[in-house]
Parts: sequence; structure tokens; C-alpha cells
Amino acid sequence: MVAGASSGIGEATALAFAQRGARVVLAARRTERLDAIAERIERSGGKALAATCDVTEPEQLTTLRVVTEEVYGPADILVNSAGMRGGGEFTKLDYDRIEDPVRLNVLGVLFGTRAFLPSMLARGKGHVVNIGSLAGRFATPGNAIYGATKHAVVAFSEAMNYETERRNVHVTSVNPGFVDTEGFPQGDLPNWAVLKMGTVTDAIMKVVREDIAPEYSVPRWLSAFQLFRVATPTLYRWGIRKARRARLSSPSR
Ligand SMILES: NC(=O)c1ccc[n+]([C@@H]2O[C@H](COP(=O)([O-])OP(=O)(O)OC[C@H]3O[C@@H](n4cnc5c(N)ncnc54)[C@H](OP(=O)(O)O)[C@@H]3O)[C@@H](O)[C@H]2O)c1
Repeated sequence: MVAGASSGIGEATALAFAQRGARVVLAARRTERLDAIAERIERSGGKALAATCDVTEPEQLTTLRVVTEEVYGPADILVNSAGMRGGGEFTKLDYDRIEDPVRLNVLGVLFGTRAFLPSMLARGKGHVVNIGSLAGRFATPGNAIYGATKHAVVAFSEAMNYETERRNVHVTSVNPGFVDTEGFPQGDLPNWAVLKMGTVTDAIMKVVREDIAPEYSVPRWLSAFQLFRVATPTLYRWGIRKARRARLSSPSR
């Protein structure tokens, strides 16, 4: 089950699972996009079901679970990839622009997990992969709302995993750096700073295959960078402020 499968990381993840022989359910709101991806999978010999679903609506997730179980049986793997940006000067934002990313990035992940986790626990196998972000590990200026939502995803995944691992079910936050997608265009970044989509999907496949939990950063050096933040917070924050000033004074931004 891939939620947020109509584009970007979710689409690529669904295709990667299908290529490896998994039967895939693709969920998101844009039905036509899902149909086209499912058709593409079926044409190349795979199995896929397109299911329109807004992950911020619990009833729709319940229906999604029921339909999935009727067609393919209970889900072994859930990937919560639906998400959106949430930026801007905080005090100038309408309340909607604060609520929307929180609903999608946080409640969407919690509701999706709530819908699919019980059957994994009942069967004693399964993996929930939540697409977090490096913004869930590093709080940066101008990114307060998005960063808050992704920190929530990282914390939720770790806390849940303590509860589920004894029953052979894992919950992992996969935290990618920058990936160029519809919702997160990275055109203003140098190429070296942008991850290839294959790097992210390979990481997700590895996490599932090797039962890695509760957290996995891509690129891998980001994990080590967390040590720097914890070991020398003053130096780390000085660096972040300096990077921010350089960014603000850059003529290209
Ligand atoms: N790209 C990056 O640099 C980056 C880095 C780190 C983490 N991430 C995270 O990766 C995840 C995927 O992002 P992406 O880069 O692949 O962006 P994307 O291409 O814009 O994909 C977002 C997906 O979320 C779905 N979605 C949005 N609202 C939804 C809703 N209410 N219900 C169901 N599905 C919904 C969209 O489909 P519909 O519009 O059809 O519903 C789309 O399939 C997000 O959680 C994002 O925070 C991205």
C-alpha cells in the first residue's frame, strides 16, 4: 500500500515494489494519475490497484483498507508518502496554511498507520514506512511548519516502533534530503545537492528487506551530521545562522 502514489517518491516507490513482484495498491486523490500508473504496472506484467483516497479522511482510509483486503488481502507494507510543503513567514500565514500541512503530513501519517497497522499486528508481520525528511532531523530557518510536521513523523515512528517490534512489525521514518518532485521542485539547488529518485527508492527497499527501524536517513552521512548537532550545538547553530545569512544575501533568491 503506497499512500501518495500519484507522483514523486510515492509513485517511484510503487513502481519499485511492482518491479520486485509485489502487488501494489496506489492511493492518492488524483484518480487519473493513479489509473495511468496502475496501467503502466499491469502492462509490464505487474499487479496494481488504483484507489482514490484522501489520507486526511479516516473514513476513506477505512474504505481503502477494506477494498485492499478484498482484492489482495491484508497489506504487508504501508508506505505513507503523501505530504506537502509548508513554508512562508509564519506570522503572515493564514490559519489554513498552517493547518493544511499539519493535517496532511502529520494526521495523514497517523491515520494511515491507524488504518493498516492492526492487521499487521494481528498477523505478526508487516512494515510501516513513513516518509519523513531531513527537515525532521534539522530545524532550519523559514521551515518552521514543515520542520515541525516532519519532526512529528520521526518521533511518531520511533515511539510506535517500540510498541510494535516485539510483534515483528516495524515502523520506520525514512528521511530523504532534497529530491526534485512536483511538490518539491529543487531547480534552484546545484545538482550535487539533489538526490536521485533511485537512491531514495533503493533506501526504502533496503529498509523493508532488512527490517531497518525506526529511522533511516538518505544520504547516509546525514545520520552522522546529527552527531555534530548534538555534540557541538553552539557551533552547529552558528553554522545554520551563517548559512541563512548567505542565503538571504544571495542575488539568486
Ligand atoms: N521531494 C523532496 O525533496 C522531499 C524530501 C524529503 C521528504 N519528502 C517527503 O516525501 C513525501 C512525498 O513528497 P514528493 O516529493 O514525492 O512530492 P509530490 O510529488 O508532490 O507527492 C506528494 C503526493 O502526496 C499526495 N497527496 C497530497 N495530498 C494528499 C491527500 N490529502 N491524500 C492523499 N494523497 C495526497 C499527492 O497526490 P494527490 O495530489 O493526487 O492526492 C502526491 O501523490 C512527502 O511526505 C514529502 O514531505 C520530500
